[in-house]
Amino acid sequence: MTTSGRLTAPATFPTTRLRRLRYHPAVRRLVRQTRLSPSQLVLPLFVRPGQGIRQEILSMPGHCQLSPDQAAEEARQVSQLGLGGVILFGIPAEKDAVGSDATSATGIIPQAIRAIKQSAPELLVITDVCFCEYTDHGHCGVVNRKTGRIDVDNDATLRLLAAQAAAHARAGADMVAPSGMMDGMIHAIRTKLDAIGYAHVPIMSYAAKYASAFYGPFRDAAESAPEFGDRRSYQMDPAAAAAQSLREVELDLAEGADLVMVKPALAYLDIIRRVADHFPGVPLAAYNVSGEFSMVKAAARQGWLDEKAIALEVLTAIRRAGATVILTYWAKDAARWLAEAAE
Ligand code: PBG
Repeated sequence: MTTSGRLTAPATFPTTRLRRLRYHPAVRRLVRQTRLSPSQLVLPLFVRPGQGIRQEILSMPGHCQLSPDQAAEEARQVSQLGLGGVILFGIPAEKDAVGSDATSATGIIPQAIRAIKQSAPELLVITDVCFCEYTDHGHCGVVNRKTGRIDVDNDATLRLLAAQAAAHARAGADMVAPSGMMDGMIHAIRTKLDAIGYAHVPIMSYAAKYASAFYGPFRDAAESAPEFGDRRSYQMDPAAAAAQSLREVELDLAEGADLVMVKPALAYLDIIRRVADHFPGVPLAAYNVSGEFSMVKAAARQGWLDEKAIALEVLTAIRRAGATVILTYWAKDAARWLAEAAE
């Protein structure tokens, strides 16, 4: 202390040497503030009808559309690796204008949940709640053609989303994750789940979901590309002020969301940080989406970069930005890489 009571100026070089904490690998590991654990990673799975099917997704190397029995096998491995859980996306046998398979008790997702719960009962099963994979037009809700302005009918879609979430909960889903960006979707789903005895099932809201070109490979995987138009009338504008994501999160929390998500992750690390700082008590998830995965895969196949190093750097960056949970196609690989590193 100086006589004026102020702290003395911090020591500078040569007393202070920041490299001292970097020489020894064990010191680097000890003081590392951002940690990545398999328990924080969630693996997306694509489920389709049938038996014994593992149909490769060409735009997402290493990932397949799986029939329920194969999804169950995958779930067993995921559970052994200590991952946080799986999130299920369904490709139904038949699509129609209102996405009937999505609300059916015998639809593809209820079938998959039951198969997974038999093979890995302790594994957390999250379901994506949305209509784009189930409608013949590929939009995330019912399309209203009457008004002359062809668009997804927000309020008519809410009832369907509630019915879809109910079908998932009844089949044994541990958590539901609405991704359609309809206004009021969390309220509609919460009200329905509470009314049918599933007040204990948490909702993870895709709260700040942007209309992003990074979803390209996913739309192949889930066969959910819109037949006409795009999703800009419901998903957020990438150029919107970051504060708009705070409004989205705030409203979803007020409607009863338990966890919130920012999606995509990499081009939106600033949004992850803003939401994490603004809502420190709320578990925050980030979706490391298909395009973020496939572009690294493609470059690695060319020998242009090292997939393992890049993937771990990317996942660490998403954690450092403030996400607690990460949905990622690297979940299984990352768990193995992290286990090797710890040996
Ligand atoms: C749609 C949904 C999408 C993704 C997750 N849920 C696609 C979309 O909005 O078009 C994208 C995930 C990814 O790209 O990995 N309900």
